[in-house]
This record gives sequence, C-alpha cells and structure tokens, in this order.
Amino acid sequence: MSDQLERYLDFRFGEEVHRRDFLRLGLTTAGMLALAACGGDNGAGTTSDNSAAGPDFKVGMVVPQSKTYAALGQSLHDGFLLYLDKVGGKAGGRKIVVMQGDEEDNLPAAQKATQALVEQQNVDMICGYVASPIADALCTQYLAPQKIPTLVMNAGVNALSRAHKSPYVYRTSFTNWQPTHPMGDYLNNQGVKKITLAYAKYGAGIETAASFKETFKGQIVAEVATDWPSTVDFSSAISKISAAGADVYSFYSGQDAINFFKQAKQVGLFDKIKFYGSGFAVEQDVLQAIPDAVPVGAVTGLHWAYGLDVKENNDFKTAFQKKYNRQADVFAVQGYDTAHVVVDALNAVKGKLDKGSPDPFMQAIAAVTFKSPRGDFKFDSNSHNPDQSIYVRELKKTSSGLVNTVLQTVPHVVDPGQ
Ligand code: BEZ
Repeated sequence: MSDQLERYLDFRFGEEVHRRDFLRLGLTTAGMLALAACGGDNGAGTTSDNSAAGPDFKVGMVVPQSKTYAALGQSLHDGFLLYLDKVGGKAGGRKIVVMQGDEEDNLPAAQKATQALVEQQNVDMICGYVASPIADALCTQYLAPQKIPTLVMNAGVNALSRAHKSPYVYRTSFTNWQPTHPMGDYLNNQGVKKITLAYAKYGAGIETAASFKETFKGQIVAEVATDWPSTVDFSSAISKISAAGADVYSFYSGQDAINFFKQAKQVGLFDKIKFYGSGFAVEQDVLQAIPDAVPVGAVTGLHWAYGLDVKENNDFKTAFQKKYNRQADVFAVQGYDTAHVVVDALNAVKGKLDKGSPDPFMQAIAAVTFKSPRGDFKFDSNSHNPDQSIYVRELKKTSSGLVNTVLQTVPHVVDPGQ
C-alpha cells in the first residue's frame, strides 16, 4: 500500500437539532472522528475508478466506541478501512470519507450520533449499528423514512429482514435467527438431550433463544436471561446454570462474554458442562482478551471462522494482522465486506447518488456479489440480508493459539424473511 493518508478531525457540536422530530432529542456535544482514506494501490482486482474527480462520498459510521460492545465497533471500523486501503480509498470517481459517531449501547446516544452525521455532516449514507434494538429503531423510524441508504454492519434484529424491511436498508452481517438455527439440528445429531439457555436479555439474546427452540428437539431445563447492558456480575446466572446441570446454549458478546467467562472460570463451570452458542461469545476479541478463561472445546455457529481455510480469508487475516497488530474477528470481516459493498455499488452507479433518489444506488447494493473471507457473499433479495453459510466451529488450542476450526458447513442459511 502506498500514499495512504488518514486525517483525524474532531468536530464539536453545541447546538440543538430541531429539524427532525424523531424522539425530539437535542444534539448537544458529540465528539466525532472523521477519517479520510485516500491514495494507495488497488490490489483488489476490482474495477474501482482511482481518479477522484467528484465530491467526497461521505459515509457516516455509527458503531460503539465505548461501553459493552466497544471492541466490536473498533473491529467493524478497522475492517472497513482495511478494504478501503485495497481500492485506494476511492470508488466511482469519488474519495470515500468515513465520519464516525459513537453508538455506545443506548438509543439516545446512537440517535444523537446519527442525527449529527445526517443533519450536520450531510453524509451520503449510513453504515453501522451493533445492537439490535438500536438498529431497529433508527432504521425504521429515522433513516428509512428519509430514504437514507443504510447498511447495517452487525445488529441482527430479525425484524429488519421481516416486518420492518425497507428498500433503503440492507444488512451485511446476519439475522439473529441465522447462526443459531442450524445449531439445534447439530446438537440433536450429537445426541444432546438437555440444554440450559443462557443469554443477554434483549433483542439479540431473545431472538437467539427463539431460533434455537425452533430446531432443538431436546429439553430446555432452565432459561437464564441476564439484564442487558447493565449486568457486570454474572454470579447468580452462573449459580443457576450450575444448579441446572445441563450443557449451555448461549448468546453473549463483547464485554459481556468476557465478564461471563472470567466469572465462570473462577468456579470451573465449563470443566463440568459444555458450552454451545452463537459464535460471538468466542470470537477473537474475547479470545485475545482472556485466553486463559475461555471454554476450549466450545462448539458454536457463525457465518465466519478464523480457521476457515480459503484464500480470501487467509489473505484478509494476514492483512488485518499486519495493519492492526491483532487477529481479525467476525466483526472485522463484516466491516471489510461492508466497505466492499459500498465500493462495488458506487462503481456500478459511477459515483452517482442523488439525495432523495437513492433507488439506483440501492439496486446496485442489492446486486453486489463477491468472494468474501466468509465465503461467497450475496444478498438474499427477500430478506435484504446475506444468503450465507453457517459454520459449526469448535474452539481448539493449536500451535498458533486459540482457533475456531470448522467442523461442519451448512450452506445457504437464508432468513425466512417474514
Ligand atoms: C445484536 O445486538 O444484534 C448483536 C450484538 C452483538 C453481537 C451480535 C449481535
């Protein structure tokens, strides 16, 4: 990579925003980071246009920079910039500029950040959102009604692919239904008869548990749901899981997973029972933070695996490690793929996106296909969400550290879309 420039600009806001009615929250002060990525080699083999003649294409990125899911937000952002490096930071004749706002882990903060980007920075599109309820509220009540092109980079809330689907909102990640649905069958085939469900008690955890119940034929002996995002002390949940005595199927991610595993390790919980779940709990953000406390042998479902041995994944992991000096995780893949979608769509419309008439750009987004680190990437036209493989992964200790290795690939796991 050559000639890469990253400009860091701090904006401060001191005014109230009155133009939008949504929730009537005033914008006070928000720290925002704008990153402009430009220059560089195009090693991607794509058809990107490197002559940035048009105005900057402004991507507003709202992901957590603090709180429970801060590490996820960092990886989404880093993966996005890594892909921009590959295409010299430009597409469709426009330089792509990323302007960031902090989702934190609550709607008012995410709303302020989104409004600042839309109403003050006049961004061309929004990419972001990690937490299900935040994505659902902002997409359906604020972004879609204004026809602001939006790519959800993580949040899995099923409704965005079902009742709350919009032509202006696509998702590059997953629905909460997806990683777990094949796991019930996997456990049935392994002869697992009893499970305790343990999860963060909000959209993502609740929808994960519901998806599991659709396919698991055994008995749910206990359901342990912890408040989100307030739970720091998991001791009472751990006591209940221990008392139930069954293996666990779970949804935790980020700092929640770290706190949960650290406290479970103190009582040797996963020496006695096996850990299953959607794979976020044992992604590299967690493995690198607490390598000695994670349940080696965990079997989880996810749309990516560190150990997935395909060229695109191996190249991606190497480039990510080189740039950021840490291992990539699924969130970095989602950020990388989101930038890929933006770049290909912008190239397809030759950089043209008229505010208020985004249909050609959205159609270009819907048509994007490519080989991703996760496997073939394409949107399912019904759910506006990837039609993708789910990997059943086992967490193994290898000579190169902790790796989720692929036990089984379930192809074309497509959200029902209704
Ligand atoms: C969600 O809220 O949708 C979510 C958060 C973290 C990881 C996966 C899903």
